[in-house]
Amino acid sequence: MASLLRAGWFRWMLFLLLLLPLVLLIQALLNGDLGADPAKVIVKDLGFWALFWLWLTLAVTPLRRLLGWRELILYRRMLGLFAFFYGVLHLLAFATFLVGWRMDILLTELTKRPYIIVGGLALLMLLPLALTSTQRMQRRLGKRWKTLHSLIYPASLLVMLHFVWQIRSDFSQQLIFSILLALLLGHRLYLKRRS
Ligand code: HEM
Repeated sequence: MASLLRAGWFRWMLFLLLLLPLVLLIQALLNGDLGADPAKVIVKDLGFWALFWLWLTLAVTPLRRLLGWRELILYRRMLGLFAFFYGVLHLLAFATFLVGWRMDILLTELTKRPYIIVGGLALLMLLPLALTSTQRMQRRLGKRWKTLHSLIYPASLLVMLHFVWQIRSDFSQQLIFSILLALLLGHRLYLKRRS
């Protein structure tokens, strides 16, 4: 497994896999396969994948320990950056398709609607992580880098709240992702207590 995870082509495969939901979404849009309210589907789909990749980023450390695949760490940065990328596209899709870039409406939505406020805060927290994700920044910030990157935990809780706030009738997805997040954060707390 170690040599597979170190292979250059594997990195490219993962890169393409992370792009796939976006490609499929664009294809469905061009084919007119997004149903009666394509704007909403686009916003929701991009939000879903932002959350999905964020959860996968959080899963890297537990999976490394559980499976012994130490090289998984090589992909944590890429996963995190893709989570942020889909989050930004999600916001842009919201501003474009649901708000039509009307700044007054956008500002009201971003400051008055609680579930949008928490989504916006989560994205704001992910911004410095994306900006300081390079090895150079990691070296430059030293110990502070780790402290700064702990922002991923409150950010993921805010994303979960953003998702839960939207429950209407079916809450199966929210339940699954809450349980996964509880396990991921629980594992983190366990490691912290042990050290
Ligand atoms: C300023 C930032 C954000 C805005 C304005 C925003 C806005 C929205 C809107 C309008 C919806 C659709 C609600 C509906 O059903 O009508 C939504 C859904 C969602 N958003 Fe966000 N969001 C933001 C940040 C985020 C971030 C950072 C994430 C994840 C990393 C995220 C994940 C989700 C998820 C998972 C859904 C539900 C998707 C589904 O129902 O399958 N959002 N968001």
